[in-house]
Amino acid sequence: MDQTRLPLEEVERSCATWPEVADCIRALVVRGAPAIGVAAAFGVALAARRSGARDFEGLLADLEEAIKGLGATRPTAVNLFWALERMRRLILAGRGRPLEDIRAGLLAEAQAILDEDLAANRAMGAHGAALVPAGARILTHCNAGALATAGYGTAVGVIRAAHAQGKVALVWVDETRPVLQGSRLTAWEMVKEGIPHRLISDVAAASVMQRGEVDLVVTGADRIAANGDTANKIGTYGVAVLARHHGIPFYVAAPFSTIDPAIASGASIVIEERDPSEVRQLGGRQTAPSESPVYNPAFDVTPAELIAAIITERGVYRPPYAF
Ligand code: MRU
Repeated sequence: MDQTRLPLEEVERSCATWPEVADCIRALVVRGAPAIGVAAAFGVALAARRSGARDFEGLLADLEEAIKGLGATRPTAVNLFWALERMRRLILAGRGRPLEDIRAGLLAEAQAILDEDLAANRAMGAHGAALVPAGARILTHCNAGALATAGYGTAVGVIRAAHAQGKVALVWVDETRPVLQGSRLTAWEMVKEGIPHRLISDVAAASVMQRGEVDLVVTGADRIAANGDTANKIGTYGVAVLARHHGIPFYVAAPFSTIDPAIASGASIVIEERDPSEVRQLGGRQTAPSESPVYNPAFDVTPAELIAAIITERGVYRPPYAF
């Protein structure tokens, strides 16, 4: 699904080469940490299919080029690098085997990454729903739903599972400036799933919490450091600070592929900066002078101390985190 066309048009986009996949990741046609990992894995499988190499070294060179190109698209979500590394390990293990076996193996591995992510989301949903009280009013930020994953969703998966149990009174959907993943994508998913929701501008979240109308917050994650510090869509940190001020539990839902044990704390997470036009425009219409300099970080880091628990497919982790 081309996510840049939602919510007005539901258009599928297919890619025949890895550079097309890379372009789609860069342009947010496919976005969300697990979804870009899955897409990149299929990009490597495509590269193997398209490679005309006749020996292992030639194939390896073609695939390393694809892995490098796909890895250069977006720096923050660790799922991308996790998936590419998993594909690379499979390639290297294929040395000495017929090239057709390696190509078939890579396609099967990409499919396995997709299948495992879907299963992880369902497990996360079940674990997370247990944290949701009856009649809950839940606030979420960005889109951590089916669109952002192999299906079902992480934070939205928790909401869907709780909704299936009849526990969700309302979902507050932050619109999520500047790219509007909340209003364009999460609200679209809420409509599709028939989940009661209300869209708010990001700046309304504080007031809604102050009025006592939020029982819990759940968001996704792009990279979780070993100490639990969590990078997610810009604005998430602000929501976490607000939640702490109002005594509201703030949960993160993410698969293990989003945890980066190599990073001790959030201070070392690379934060992607995106094009200034995303901030100077709204819905394609310019809303700021072209001359105005812009700072457009796509993510921020929420310190572990603000996170009540991290919901994964293996269960619910609470501080101090020992994944
Ligand atoms: O820039 P995006 O839209 O790719 O950012 C996505 C997010 O921040 C999501 O919350 C995160 O990737 C989790 S998706 C299950």
